[in-house]
Amino acid sequence: MKEKTVYVCDICGYDNPRWFGQCPQCRNWNTAQEVRQTKRPRASTEIEGTDATFEALIKKQKEPVTRITTRFNAFNRVLGGGIVPGSVLLIGGDPGVGKSTLLTQLADQKVTVFYWSGEESTEQIMLRAQRTNDATLDRLYVYNTNRLELALEKLQKALSDSESKLPDSFQPVLVVDSIQTMKSDEVSALPGGVVQIRECTAALVAFAKARKVPVIIVAHITKYGQIAGPKLIEHLVDVVLYFDGDSDRDLRILRSIKNRFGPTNEIGVFEMGENGLKEISDPSERFYDANANDSGNAISVILEGSTPFVVEVQALAVSTHFSSPRRLSKGVDQERLNLIAAVLSKRLNLPIENHDLYLNLLGGLKCSDPGIEFPIAVAIFSSFFDKTVPPKTAFFGEVGLDGKIRGVSFSEKRITELARLGFSRIYLPKNKAHAGVFKKHPQVDFFECAYLKEALIEIFDGRS
Ligand code: TYD
Ligand code: MG
Repeated sequence: MKEKTVYVCDICGYDNPRWFGQCPQCRNWNTAQEVRQTKRPRASTEIEGTDATFEALIKKQKEPVTRITTRFNAFNRVLGGGIVPGSVLLIGGDPGVGKSTLLTQLADQKVTVFYWSGEESTEQIMLRAQRTNDATLDRLYVYNTNRLELALEKLQKALSDSESKLPDSFQPVLVVDSIQTMKSDEVSALPGGVVQIRECTAALVAFAKARKVPVIIVAHITKYGQIAGPKLIEHLVDVVLYFDGDSDRDLRILRSIKNRFGPTNEIGVFEMGENGLKEISDPSERFYDANANDSGNAISVILEGSTPFVVEVQALAVSTHFSSPRRLSKGVDQERLNLIAAVLSKRLNLPIENHDLYLNLLGGLKCSDPGIEFPIAVAIFSSFFDKTVPPKTAFFGEVGLDGKIRGVSFSEKRITELARLGFSRIYLPKNKAHAGVFKKHPQVDFFECAYLKEALIEIFDGRS
């Protein structure tokens, strides 16, 4: 058995056969960790087994995959219909957002959760579980550990011991909270660094594939906003989820960034309450205030995955005290705000460069849908002139640099959602294909807009 020594930067993962004092990639000092790599493959990395014939493999491939459905429909939907057996999920999020709560709550009649925690004591986890619901308790097995191999060995044994006696509804799911606290004996590096994280993740992936037990790995977000070391383990896992939301509000949003078995950008909305997390089945109504009647607010409909959401854009334009005006944006890319401000300045001659602009999406939502641009322009304009937007009115469309309003995908879905929620005026891009959709909603007044300037004049004409 040949042993090879490499030096790996514990911050960025750069590796070199020779020791280095300063990492040539990330420029940090004293980050080199000695890692001994044996050429021996891990016993459990053989996914299909050695004796499987080609025919057997083909036959196996044709078997349908049954996903594990958890009690949260929103969670299942984000994953594309439930957890795929043997898959490895990574869930990231700020401290206190509710990752541990969500994962303990997965335990119920259908799902058995093996919960390894290197962060909290068994009592703390059980206390949390008691708070959330009682059904959870007898399907939650907590193990307080940070020794990966030992824990894996115990779990393997527990699973093989009980294999014959298990009812069909027993669906084991392993939760590892968090990957930063786990330590593998295979490498000598400290927990939390790139070397350990990579080693532990690789071992967990091997376990998941070999035993067909899904593994959910909790990862802290680094101060740069990335999951556990610069994206180093994201490619090792099948699904990457982010759980976020304002810590001062109760809404929590689960989204998938990467998904080998389903769509990305699908989101699930939860509410944190006294008894843990509850999913919100009609999230649209949570992201806007139907009775708001202040300048600077405009309502839009955006698409997150396949789900339309009605959201409220809030803008504030105040004359600046700085030599260069401030542009602050929450929930929308700052570039997008700059772009719209530039269009308003050039195409409408709005003296926006003397104003600070603040932008916010209600409910801690984040949006990358271009359909939000037109409502952003409306909200800024509304705040600038201190004129309110007409009631029961919504907007969607992309704004071009030429000041034109451009079409966005899924108009019909957006219109249907707005009509369902009782909006009676919709401003949207021009499109011949809309005629059929308009007929379906005779109670709604539609305004097709070609230019932003015309649209804003039309919207605010005669308003106070
Ligand atoms: P937690 O799941 O520990 O967050 P994370 O694992 O992401 O760090 O959640 C912690 C927060 O959630 C904490 O501020 C308390 C709050 N919480 C509730 O409001 N209600 C509850 O029922 C539970 C269990 C937690
Ligand atoms: Mg936690």
